[in-house]
Amino acid sequence: MTKAIILSGGYGTRLRPLSCNVPKSLMPIVNKPVMERQILLLKSAGVKEIVLAVSVMGDIVKNYFKDGSHLGVRIHYTEEKHPLGTAGAIKIAEPYLREENFFMLNGDVIFNCDLNKMLQFHTTKKGIGTIAGKVVNDPSRYGVLIENEDTHQLLEFLEKDEYFPPNGKIVPMPINAGVYILEPEIFTYIEPHKKVSIEKQVFPIVVKKEQLYHYQISGVWKDIGKPYDLLEGNIILMVDIMKNLKGDVKNLIDHSADIHPSSKIYSPCTIGENVVIRGNSTIGPNVIIGDNVFIDNNVELRDCVIYNESYISSNVKIEKAIIADNCHIQKNVILKGNNENLVILASYVEVLKNLEILAPKTISLTVCHHEVLKESMK
Ligand code: GDD
Ligand code: MG
Repeated sequence: MTKAIILSGGYGTRLRPLSCNVPKSLMPIVNKPVMERQILLLKSAGVKEIVLAVSVMGDIVKNYFKDGSHLGVRIHYTEEKHPLGTAGAIKIAEPYLREENFFMLNGDVIFNCDLNKMLQFHTTKKGIGTIAGKVVNDPSRYGVLIENEDTHQLLEFLEKDEYFPPNGKIVPMPINAGVYILEPEIFTYIEPHKKVSIEKQVFPIVVKKEQLYHYQISGVWKDIGKPYDLLEGNIILMVDIMKNLKGDVKNLIDHSADIHPSSKIYSPCTIGENVVIRGNSTIGPNVIIGDNVFIDNNVELRDCVIYNESYISSNVKIEKAIIADNCHIQKNVILKGNNENLVILASYVEVLKNLEILAPKTISLTVCHHEVLKESMK
């Protein structure tokens, strides 16, 4: 198999305002867009040609990946004026994919599994499709897979609003990880020129034909649909990257970083290119900093992601937050989330000095791009 298709066309509404000007598939995960990580994983499995099924903000994706040559793969794009759904999107790529089986990925999942092992499984089972599955404690947000445990043939595929746990009790279940191997025959199940969902309108039919299989993947997996998933996904992938490096690597710090010796880094942390960290600051644990970020004296950062080009002034404290690119945080500011509710600043936000911005108990606190915060929010 040498081809793959990645879907990148949803609105990413649950990630607003971060996804207002950046599509979900370009969200940085340990300082690299989630879809770039997928492309590199596909390439390492031998894939040479990839179709990106773009729709919403498709031009931004095209500008970023271009023809793929800088990543060592050939990239094609589909023309989808309005979102055609997860099956409609691949149907228009049929001319690229009709010759042999191919990988299909949701462009918003972090994973790191051996795709060739999955292909071996698919080849043995000889179905029309193989769905990668992951067991999660709360399956209610995902497509649920019910299989014959001996043969791994799927007996049911139930998309999120179609699954009702027995007696209303939520138990761990294998869910659709958004990673598939499909035979070109799948296209015969998708009506052309229509909005069609692969999860709701195609997989249930292929299940009835006894042609869909479940392959349980190992390793990290995360869908970055919601802000907390984005923070958690960054942290689990950072730890996974370090685990796979030689030696006992505790942090991922670029050699260009200029860190004052009086500042402390508590692992795990990632620090990108040309980052300056002045004195007496405490960074970590669970901090991912992008490129060209300036951090002044006495700053405390933990459980947060800071994109490129931001300026963090002295005596600032940030915890449970995502700070997009080019933000300016003036001195003595506190930005703090709680449990699963984060403080989220979109690009170019400025927070004036001495403010306290605290997420409420039930929902993340979000600030749209280019806003200037002038008053505390608690
Ligand atoms: N091109 C295109 N056109 N892409 C689309 C469209 C469309 O109309 N609609 C969605 N996508 C892309 C999204 O950009 C994303 O990469 C992927 O398809 C999945 O859409 P989501 O909106 O993120 O779906 P979800 O996370 O709620 O559920 C899906 O993923 C789960 C695993 O992450 C389903 O496939 C679930 O069954 C699955 O468990
Ligand atoms: Mg998703």
